Amino acid sequence: MTSSGLEQLLAAKEIVITCGSGGVGKTTTVAAAGAMAAAELGGKVLVLTVDPARRLATALGLEQFGNVERQVPPELFAAAGVEPQGELWAAMLDTKESWDELVRAHAPDARTRDAILANPLYTNITGKFVQSHDYIAMERLYEIHRSGRYDLIVVDTPPTRNAIDFLEAPERMADFFSSRLLRWLITPSRSRIVTAASRPFYSVADRILGSQFLTDIAEFFVLFQSMYDGFVERANAVTRLLSDRRTTFLVVSTLEEASVREAEFFIDELRRRDLPLGALVLNKVLPDWFGDEAASHVATHLTRHGDEVSAALASRHDPSLGDGAQVARVLREIGQSFLDYRVVATREREQASELGRHAEVVVSAPHLDRDVADLDGLLALGRRVW
Ligand SMILES: Nc1ncnc2c1ncn2[C@@H]1O[C@H](COP(=O)(O)OP(=O)(O)OP(=O)(O)O)[C@@H](O)[C@H]1O
Ligand SMILES: [Mg+2]
Repeated sequence: MTSSGLEQLLAAKEIVITCGSGGVGKTTTVAAAGAMAAAELGGKVLVLTVDPARRLATALGLEQFGNVERQVPPELFAAAGVEPQGELWAAMLDTKESWDELVRAHAPDARTRDAILANPLYTNITGKFVQSHDYIAMERLYEIHRSGRYDLIVVDTPPTRNAIDFLEAPERMADFFSSRLLRWLITPSRSRIVTAASRPFYSVADRILGSQFLTDIAEFFVLFQSMYDGFVERANAVTRLLSDRRTTFLVVSTLEEASVREAEFFIDELRRRDLPLGALVLNKVLPDWFGDEAASHVATHLTRHGDEVSAALASRHDPSLGDGAQVARVLREIGQSFLDYRVVATREREQASELGRHAEVVVSAPHLDRDVADLDGLLALGRRVW
């Protein structure tokens, strides 16, 4: 492990993409790192989040979290006793809204645009199409980065089944739009050669899906054809942006077995794609002092000599504690709990050093006993990893 934190990394990059398994603290880390960057590095910093917890949105002073980027009120920094060097902005990824914007940008004319937006299949696809969310996240990132409005963009990722999917989403989208299936679908049906082999497919599809559905599909793809070039070009550009030297990745993990395995999987996948692992963030880590020998001695003493300690305590402290039998029991339990936690903390340290070998920058954040509820809390967490 090195002593270097996130500061140098964030100062040197323009895009930081966070990944990790579900619930490890990606969204919280993104917000904390973004807040620190705005406070310490200056410039305009954007945190692009997915599904932020209500409390996190409140912590950023954003009741209405939406697709539109909003500045986190500077007064919140002032309330936290911080005079930020730069500005903190935040936005959420709204899949449907982002797709609509994409169509508006690429449709050749107003008529096509409106027809696509009103097409029932379009609504369905953008809502449910596999990876539509992953793709749009990367697409949106590309657009915002290209606008040059921000010096640093810290990106959250959705909890996906296959957590690395979003990396491949642009490529897959380009493949989809270049696919023969799509070309064939958008060929006007008159000139479509319906082979003997494909005829049964059509008659079955007609019966099962209804001819209206097939008409919708055909119309949809014909309309989409007009955006084809724009889409493929964009998807390729998004792929290139992921491996740009201005982009880096953060893998967030807790030190629980399952989360560690998933983090290793992520690290391997990044390596396989030649993408840089900028830093490893270990979150919800037990405090160091569980490893403290003196503390452990106290705990062991309590489990063995709870009676004597309680007798000494109870009589002097408060007569209502009785003869100290209760106190003794509680003290023994506390001592035992401490020792149990110590075992977990030891295992965590082993996991941390094993996982830590993969990354040049490894930072850890303690398990807080309450949710982050304000910018102050976010900055406190951010400082631990800075
Ligand atoms: N260091 C921490 N200590 C205590 N609680 C934390 C810590 N970091 C995050 N949490 C809490 O854990 C929960 C999950 O955090 P968060 O939403 O950031 O995770 P996530 O990885 O984005 O989850 P998802 O995969 O569902 O998007 C939240 O309630 C958050 O407040
Ligand atoms: Mg999240």
